[in-house]
This record gives sequence, C-alpha cells and structure tokens, in this order.
Amino acid sequence: MELTEIDHIAIAVNDLDAAIDYYSQAFNCHVEHRETVEKDGVEEALLRVAHSYIQLLTPTRPDSPVAKFLESKGEGLHHIGYRVANCEQAIDSVAKAGGRLIDSEPRPGSRGTTIAFVHPKGSFGTLIELVQE
Ligand code: CO
Repeated sequence: MELTEIDHIAIAVNDLDAAIDYYSQAFNCHVEHRETVEKDGVEEALLRVAHSYIQLLTPTRPDSPVAKFLESKGEGLHHIGYRVANCEQAIDSVAKAGGRLIDSEPRPGSRGTTIAFVHPKGSFGTLIELVQE
C-alpha cells in the first residue's frame, strides 16, 4: 500500500467566506468545489493547488467535531488527506502498522470519494484522512 498524492490539507476556520476571500486575494486560489457534508457537520471549500487541494473547513452545527476542534485549539491545520488507490487496503495497512482507525470501514466522503479517518493518537499527532477517488 502506498500513498499516491497529497489529496488535501484541511484548515479549520470560523468564517468560510472570509477564508476563501483571503486565499483568493493573497494566493490567487479559487474554489473548485464547495459542499456541505451534513453527516460530519462541516461545510468545505476545495481550492486547487497543482494536483492537490487546500480544504477550508467550517462547522455547520455546534456539536460538529470541527466546532469542538475550533473551541479547543482555534483555527489552523486540522488534518491531511492522503490519496490512495484502495481505501480498504489502506485501512488494513494502517491497522497492521499499529495505527488507530476512527473509521474501520471505508465510507463516503465529499465529491464522491471514499474515505476513512485515522486517529492522531497512533499517527504521531496528525489526523489522517485516506482518500480514494
Ligand atoms: Co478532508
């Protein structure tokens, strides 16, 4: 199992529109995809950088995990999405290596992807999202 690309770097923000404006003005990055994922309680905007994305992320409700993250840690880096060819194989590989899976089975992510999250405890402090396109 190998990672094929950095899929996205996710940044948690309080004001999604303000963050999009800033990235647009400062870095000439534009929104390629915007989506609310109700199940996860987030609204996200994907800004393309070469073959990867910056994912700006904001909570849609107070009990969303991203709302809790913002409360305790403030705005900033939230997780890294690694692109993989096969999410299920990637999950097995993480488990064999002693990682702690948040999702033990692949599940639907945004823009039609298949994803699984890996807990930062067990992954040297980084929340990892495995992303199969
Ligand atoms: Co993500």
